[in-house]
Amino acid sequence: MPHISQRGQAMPESPIRKLAPLANKAKARGIKVFHLNIGQPDLPTPEIALEAIRNISLRILEYSPSDGFPSLKSKLAAYYHRFKIDVTEEHIIITSGGSEAVNFAFMSCLNPGDEIIVPEPAYANYTAFAQAAGAVLRPVVSSIEEGFALPPIEKFEELISPRSKGILICNPNNPTGYLYTRSEMNKIRDLVRKHDLYLFSDEVYREFCYTGAPYISAFHLDGIEENVVLIDSVSKRYSECGIRIGALVTKNKEVRKSVMKFCQARLSPPLLGQIVAEASMDTPEEYMRYVYDEYVERRKFLIDGLNRIPGVYSPIPMGAFYTVARLPIDDSDRFCAWLLSDFEYEGRTVMMAPASGFYSNPENGRNEVRIAYVLDKEELKEALLVLQKALEAYPGRTQ
Ligand SMILES: Cc1ncc(COP(=O)(O)O)c(C=O)c1O
Repeated sequence: MPHISQRGQAMPESPIRKLAPLANKAKARGIKVFHLNIGQPDLPTPEIALEAIRNISLRILEYSPSDGFPSLKSKLAAYYHRFKIDVTEEHIIITSGGSEAVNFAFMSCLNPGDEIIVPEPAYANYTAFAQAAGAVLRPVVSSIEEGFALPPIEKFEELISPRSKGILICNPNNPTGYLYTRSEMNKIRDLVRKHDLYLFSDEVYREFCYTGAPYISAFHLDGIEENVVLIDSVSKRYSECGIRIGALVTKNKEVRKSVMKFCQARLSPPLLGQIVAEASMDTPEEYMRYVYDEYVERRKFLIDGLNRIPGVYSPIPMGAFYTVARLPIDDSDRFCAWLLSDFEYEGRTVMMAPASGFYSNPENGRNEVRIAYVLDKEELKEALLVLQKALEAYPGRTQ
């Protein structure tokens, strides 16, 4: 038998999805599983988007331009202007989800062995895409005690080497919910400028900032316009994870030229998804407010509930719809697997993402889990009770 490539072997499993077979088995045994593991919003997609699907009357389901439909890009540019992101249609490339935007950004900007500095815990698929590009993530670890604030900028400086090529941030952050302050963003800008790095900025959760603190886009930072590669997606803001539409936005012509070659090789972003995404750009304000208010309530409900469980601690996330909580357990991988394979409370259990997969050194997340608040409050209430009962019963409890 031929061997799997070293790259294929080295690809990490997704901490968000790797326990799915255990969840399926639990469901086959008749157990209800509360999915707190995945950022799949449960809120309905805007009616205007669903209507667009119903009204599709194409004769041929053909390829679209490799960089996406100009009409979608133009609407997206107008959308960015609402956030004071000063870009035009020409700066935007439509991708198959934000995931492909990350992939193409890394493939275009990084040579094998090049390094990107990333605050951790970090969205796990960055590791997978870096791995695919042969690049190396150099983590700067933030801590739950500090509410996952950006570590001192000196920690970033310490990691700068001749192989350093970029800084990668996610703002608001998945998995921590942290929202970078103006001062933190300025420090990142200074570093990017000083060492002439790329700034990969994943801003797919920009709608979800809850504290009144401003959302600072990488494009709001002066003097590094050519260094910024912004990652975007419609998945989260319109509950449209399944249409697979995202975008890579950059003013850097060379980066766009390279990304376009990857786009051409995969021919076209999804046709139907683009039609839906374009319609979604006209989603009424009331929808956005309803979604926002819902997450605000859930956030409070979840964090209060978590912090009431003995031994559990969660900071208050400022954005996105996740939190990283510390649990009184020996090993989050073991605990999350045990929840699905060995535990139930009145026919129910919970599925969470072990935070070990969000750190380069899994030890940093041994007693942490990522929880997504993508269930309604009634379900969250049940899930919290099940979690509390599970922690009482878990053989690897530490306190
Ligand atoms: C931070 C972040 N970036 C990118 C993505 C990719 O999303 P998609 O490929 O659905 O656009 C996700 C999905 O969970 C995410 O959380």
